[in-house]
Amino acid sequence: MAKTASFSCTACGAVYSKWSGRCDACGEWNTIVEDTPLSTGPASKSLGAKRGTALTLTDLSAEETPPPRTQSGIAELDRVLGGGMVPASAILVGGDPGIGKSTLLLQAAARFAGAGLKTVYVSGEEASAQIRMRAQRLGLGDAPVKLAAATSLRDILTTLEAEKPDLVVIDSIQTVWADNVDSAPGSVSQVRAAAHELTSFAKRKGASVILVGHVTKEGQIAGPRVVEHMVDTVLYFEGERGHQFRILRSVKNRFGPADEIGVFEMTGGGLAEVLNPSELFLSGRGDPAPGSVVFAGIEGTRPVLVEMQALVAPTPHSQPRRAVVGWDGSRLAMILAVLEARCGIPFAGLDVYLNVAGGIKISEPAADLAVAAALLSAREDSSLPAETVVFGEISLSGALRPVGQTENRLKEAQKLGFTSAIVPAGGKPGGKSGLTLTQLGDLTAFVGDIFGAG
Ligand code: TYD
Ligand code: MG
Repeated sequence: MAKTASFSCTACGAVYSKWSGRCDACGEWNTIVEDTPLSTGPASKSLGAKRGTALTLTDLSAEETPPPRTQSGIAELDRVLGGGMVPASAILVGGDPGIGKSTLLLQAAARFAGAGLKTVYVSGEEASAQIRMRAQRLGLGDAPVKLAAATSLRDILTTLEAEKPDLVVIDSIQTVWADNVDSAPGSVSQVRAAAHELTSFAKRKGASVILVGHVTKEGQIAGPRVVEHMVDTVLYFEGERGHQFRILRSVKNRFGPADEIGVFEMTGGGLAEVLNPSELFLSGRGDPAPGSVVFAGIEGTRPVLVEMQALVAPTPHSQPRRAVVGWDGSRLAMILAVLEARCGIPFAGLDVYLNVAGGIKISEPAADLAVAAALLSAREDSSLPAETVVFGEISLSGALRPVGQTENRLKEAQKLGFTSAIVPAGGKPGGKSGLTLTQLGDLTAFVGDIFGAG
């Protein structure tokens, strides 16, 4: 029997009948690898004439009690999970190698075990002795966590069936190897099979299963993207290498809000919670300087103040550079175009660099006005009034649009000692914020009022 080859993308899981350099589905390069299809899977067989069992259908209005949750006591983690760990759930924690996933999960496992969950930590990356040493260094040596160093899916499942844990951590899903799947560990079909078995274990036995996944584009290692739709919750652990801040972000959560963040700091003694991220992100800020603007943002349910930094300089190249860290590059291009077309401020012939201080990634359109302010301030070499926060969305016409949660943003700014805010007209500041508000209708007014230019 001739075997038909199958190829799939390690980044998004799209399946192809032949190899190509670029995945049409997600646009990534060099991510398509040969894959052995699961020819014995149930989908490949016809269901035949045998009848199934009729299902019991229920009404939408049936009573549903909220799932019982267990809190780890690590507030930043519990909030991101939606208020604690839910039984019979599968969670994927993705992140770059070395960012601190194993550290976070060892700390979480110890705390959940302390809170009464029977916890098993399976590592395919480190020996048990190594994990024990790390636990001791983190001061968690006495936590009632059961350890195993294993990679065989069959052995792991047999152990779990016997142990009946409430919480299982698998570090990492790429190292787990199913002997019934004919491809290398870390390949898309292996990762998919392992994730499938482990999530169905969670559903069957009512355990919470946390899968760790490395995000990497290189080699044969499958990105955890293929696992994302199989699990209930997807968390990403992010941060810049040179910074000590780490952000745990929920991008999907069947049991809580998505887009919630938890902020941690990597210290010599493991990850420490950062309960007031604004203070941390603004901590290195000196006197007001050209190009620096404080943005009052909302991350998840929490206001977070961050510093936007811009640098604008004449370019030595024929094509000026546009470099962005922590924000969206195409959104920057849009703001530059609006400044040029609506306010007559050209950036041609100028290199533009934009950086969100502290290594956090901002995706809110509410940051538009803060970015525009930082760009103008850098270009005009004049700083914004001291102790001012800025937020607002900019439309292509140059109009400023009010954004949600104005009151929360202003309150956080006031709490941190800011005295004035530049915001779009028409927002609902609600109550008395105590800040001096400058409310503006469009970007031209902003340029005129604040910089006396335009
Ligand atoms: P690790 O949790 O192994 O990362 P991952 O599992 O995501 O690959 O953490 C790796 C880095 O964290 C390592 O370079 C050292 C640093 N680290 C600390 O700074 N302090 C600590 O207490 C620990 C345990 C690790
Ligand atoms: Mg690790």
